[in-house]
Amino acid sequence: MANNIVVIGTQWGDEGKGKIVDLLTPHCSAVARFQGGHNAGHTLVLDGKKTVLHLIPSGILHDDTICYIGNGVVLSLAALEKEINELDSVNIAEKLKISASCVLILPSHIALDNAREAKRGKQAIGTTGRGIGPAYEDKVARRAIKLFDCRDKDILKEKVERLVGYHNFLLQHYFAAPAVDSQAVYEEIVRIYQRIQAMVCDVTTALAQVQADGGNILFEGAQGAMLDIDHGTYPYVTSSNTTASNAAAGTGLGPKAIDHVLGIAKAYTTRVGGGPFPTELFDDIGETIARVGHEVGASTGRPRRCGWFDAPVMRRAIINSSVDSLCITKLDVLDSLAEIKICVAYDLNGERVEMAPADPQLFKQCQPVYECLVGWQAVTQSVRDYEQLPENAKAYLKRIASLLGVSIDIISTSPERNDTIILKDLVND
Ligand code: GDP
Ligand code: IMO
Ligand code: MG
Repeated sequence: MANNIVVIGTQWGDEGKGKIVDLLTPHCSAVARFQGGHNAGHTLVLDGKKTVLHLIPSGILHDDTICYIGNGVVLSLAALEKEINELDSVNIAEKLKISASCVLILPSHIALDNAREAKRGKQAIGTTGRGIGPAYEDKVARRAIKLFDCRDKDILKEKVERLVGYHNFLLQHYFAAPAVDSQAVYEEIVRIYQRIQAMVCDVTTALAQVQADGGNILFEGAQGAMLDIDHGTYPYVTSSNTTASNAAAGTGLGPKAIDHVLGIAKAYTTRVGGGPFPTELFDDIGETIARVGHEVGASTGRPRRCGWFDAPVMRRAIINSSVDSLCITKLDVLDSLAEIKICVAYDLNGERVEMAPADPQLFKQCQPVYECLVGWQAVTQSVRDYEQLPENAKAYLKRIASLLGVSIDIISTSPERNDTIILKDLVND
């Protein structure tokens, strides 16, 4: 059993990470986001009540756990304020801590994101339009504004003027788009910073203290392995490392802080936005999966593309993140299907490959090699006991585990927190 667990998506995001983080939170003293921003949409359902979180970690519904936003997150203060306002939580100031080292997403990043997408036309990445890419660009270019810059208004004002001035040059002269009002950007930061100031801290030190006190840390990934900036289907990716090792860099702890990596995967595959997707379905079955699985983006409301479970994608994700075990979600969505396919390998120009190629040009050419399994055509929805699963559903899960060489520790059978089969307790209490 482990102390510190990293929960990451192993496909193209929306695997159900939020539900599983919420489920595991009572065993942990801290839940920490380490990358991404409000491009994430993590859904929690408790007794029919749905909460969608974008920036605030998915442990927030539990009273005894502190939620941290680590330095690796790109932070839109406007999005944070909106999310805080939407949460009923009375003592958010005590339950949420934000790293002073977070890079700020400004309205001009959002304008640049949208202008870039428009210019790409048919090659658009299909970003969430949240300014994520431009904010990470500024971080790497060492010109970003960080939360700690907000402490001194004069420094902040000068930095905002300089950065928004640069953005406006690009917007007006390269993209022929309207400029952003730098004074309004500055005033919004000052206003919201005053409101959240008490939550800003050195997250690294705080998490080190949690460890020293013997507490457990749950690291919450956003997006998924195939959206990783280095290891995903570039350029159709997000702008951060979504893989497990970034849990360390994105909070300031070292790699030894990670005891267990839990990879979350849907029982099939989905993707939002552009980019290659070898097992994508364009038929009635794809439509059935989308309808039964309510496959609509939790952030942008866009329809998600649906396809069969893809073992070559999973094999790469497992290596990229040292995945120790898996949680398979949305098994219930396949309940009505007579036949279920698993992509066991790819055919790449006549050659069989077991692993999704890193080269996007080759990835695009991969044709899935399918194995057909007989469906269970029985209800798994809300089943909480493994023995109550139909034999064919068990056979499907066993086949996935054997193809990937990794055990399945958790199975999710509905959006509800407790409609979950736990085969192994992962965290020490
Ligand atoms: P995340 O981004 O990985 O947290 O996932 P999202 O919240 O974006 O998308 C997962 C969707 O599936 C949400 O609507 C969840 O409520 C829902 N969900 C999670 N687990 C299950 C499950 O086992 N069965 C079904 N039917 N829905 C699930
Ligand atoms: P969660 O955490 C699914 C996708 C976008 C687009 C690409 C780049 O809920 O799993 P970005 O705005 O990040 O520059 O967009 O990444 N994307 C996601 N897809 N789930 C997400 O988050 C995503 N976050 C970004 O659709 O294809
Ligand atoms: Mg999501």
